[in-house]
Amino acid sequence: MTKDGAIGVFDSGIGGLTVLKELLTRLPGESFVYFGDTARVPYGTKSVETVLRFSRENVTFLLDQSVKFIVVACNTASASAVPRLQREFRIPILGVIEPGVRAAVERSRTSKIGVIGTAGTIRSGAYQNGIKQLDPQAEVMAKPCPLFVPLAEEGWVDTPVTELAARTYFDGFLDDGIDVLVLGCTHYPLLAGVIGRVVGDGVALVDSAVETASEVRRALERDDLLSEGAPGDFTIYLSDIAPDFQQVGERILERPIPDVRLRPV
Ligand code: DGL
Repeated sequence: MTKDGAIGVFDSGIGGLTVLKELLTRLPGESFVYFGDTARVPYGTKSVETVLRFSRENVTFLLDQSVKFIVVACNTASASAVPRLQREFRIPILGVIEPGVRAAVERSRTSKIGVIGTAGTIRSGAYQNGIKQLDPQAEVMAKPCPLFVPLAEEGWVDTPVTELAARTYFDGFLDDGIDVLVLGCTHYPLLAGVIGRVVGDGVALVDSAVETASEVRRALERDDLLSEGAPGDFTIYLSDIAPDFQQVGERILERPIPDVRLRPV
């Protein structure tokens, strides 16, 4: 593995672009290859075996692009597959759960922490266990919010339907007085405006993207893989290209997307 290789990033769809955006900001000398498995999204409703199979295929595809490091920018795949992938592949692989857990525990003053994610992520207990390991006193309230993923993929980030979904999900959920809510799905930061409005100012939203990007930087420095030369660029592969992807993707990344390539699965 050389410094010149790109960093591979994958998600079930466009949610991982929220992580790519932070990576591009914090690692300006790096190149990135992003794969969004838009033909098979959502992962969050699928079995662990299926998510593991898709994740292995995604890692193999990224390895074919000669990447030097892989970021699993999907909480569902991080929860179900990352430990196995780390054992099976020789490349460094980082998921988003550990950075999210750390950020949540650091931000909370009351140790009452809410976590929302896909059904798969919440069922795995990865956040609940991770938070309790770092802060044994913590009370963790966890709730799956599966409808947020198709709403985000559809670009319905702030519509009455999105707000109604948020109000329905959070009805009763906030009664225990959480002071931090972990957005435990990389699609959810896209709905942060609505989610923040519904949960109110007293609850800090934690998005693991920033912490993940810092962790990638630390790992590259440690392994002497940080590229400081060429200006960073990125290539996006999708397993299905929706007609409005360019527009949606550019809104998330806040920069032009030069080209989008199809990678059929
Ligand atoms: N964005 C992904 C996550 O962080 C997956 C959403 C899905 O495919 O269900 O979990």
